[in-house]
Amino acid sequence: QELQLNLEQIEKGGFDHFMLKEIYEQPSAILDTFRGRMLPNEGIIKMSGIEDNMKTFLNANRIIVVACGTSWHAGLVSEYIFENLARIPVEVEYASEFRYRNPVITDKDVVIAISQSGETADTLAAIKLAKSRGAFVFGVCNVVGSSIARETDAGAYTHAGPEIGVASTKAFTTQITVLTLIALRLARAKGTISSSEFRHHMIELELIPEKVKKALESDAYVKTIADIYKNSNNFLYLGRGYNFPVALEGALKLKEISYIHAEGYPAAEMKHGPIALIDENMPIVVIATKKGHYEKVVSNIQEIKSRKGKIIGIVTEGDEQVKALADHVIEVPETIESLTPLLTTIPLQLLSYHIALMLDKNVDQPRNLAKAVTVE
Ligand code: G6P
Repeated sequence: QELQLNLEQIEKGGFDHFMLKEIYEQPSAILDTFRGRMLPNEGIIKMSGIEDNMKTFLNANRIIVVACGTSWHAGLVSEYIFENLARIPVEVEYASEFRYRNPVITDKDVVIAISQSGETADTLAAIKLAKSRGAFVFGVCNVVGSSIARETDAGAYTHAGPEIGVASTKAFTTQITVLTLIALRLARAKGTISSSEFRHHMIELELIPEKVKKALESDAYVKTIADIYKNSNNFLYLGRGYNFPVALEGALKLKEISYIHAEGYPAAEMKHGPIALIDENMPIVVIATKKGHYEKVVSNIQEIKSRKGKIIGIVTEGDEQVKALADHVIEVPETIESLTPLLTTIPLQLLSYHIALMLDKNVDQPRNLAKAVTVE
């Protein structure tokens, strides 16, 4: 028994929980994901799963992403990345809906299945369906040799290392990293970005691990915010563009481990419903980084303020405008717009972690949830 406990402590590497350890592993996990695949100085991105199937990717009419849970959120981020950089139409589907919908799929479609565990039953079934209709299926998995990794025609691993906490953290950011590499490589091959833009993106991605480290420095401050709002019954998360899926992911993290009801919404949709919920008891986490619709998000923040909602802004370092309006602001370093999700996600993970811990919940093994859902 004692030996067992000690072993677990060693595995947690000095952290109280696997989730916190995995949150803190993100700088090195992201680095491991692009290391050896991206050579900014030489202007090269190399991934054998892509190179070997370049023709298929370049001839694809569209990309269909299938996934569940947090992986589905990474898929949503990739929709913005693929469409923006590589100009390939993307649809992102819940694997569970896709598999039962009699979807229109042809051999001109590329399906990308995203799964940390590589064992999610719905995602596996979606892959089998897509293959039976002649689509080429590419896997983005973390677990090497997993069922999905074996079932797909080709793939790229995330190299995040084992993720034990049920609430997914480093899997999410490394999935976005892999999908970014793929999008950049395809964009270059298609000529939808210039070589200087290509290089600029790589240089910015290379800086991300250090910036994630910087974002992690908000931990103590995030904890004080957690303490203020831990007894709230509802949270709203808002974001736009690349950060709309991050809002969904922030809300999911909170639900999963603290059991507080939370909803993620595209900021502009607030006026079509969620705004009715806003009063002085409603904490609203707004992702408002300098890049991408900043002014529009600021006006959403003004609307929240006039309804007395409590505003927690996730902002770019040095921000003044949101700071003047929000109750709290958490700063993340500046980067190019497409990479902001890798930074804005960090404080949201920490916020859910601290709230769950303060509420005395089982952070690593939340009730009713499983790390891999291998049944329907
Ligand atoms: C479960 C886990 C989630 C995960 C989802 C998809 O619900 O609790 O954290 O995002 O499955 O898992 P996958 O392994 O396919 O990414």
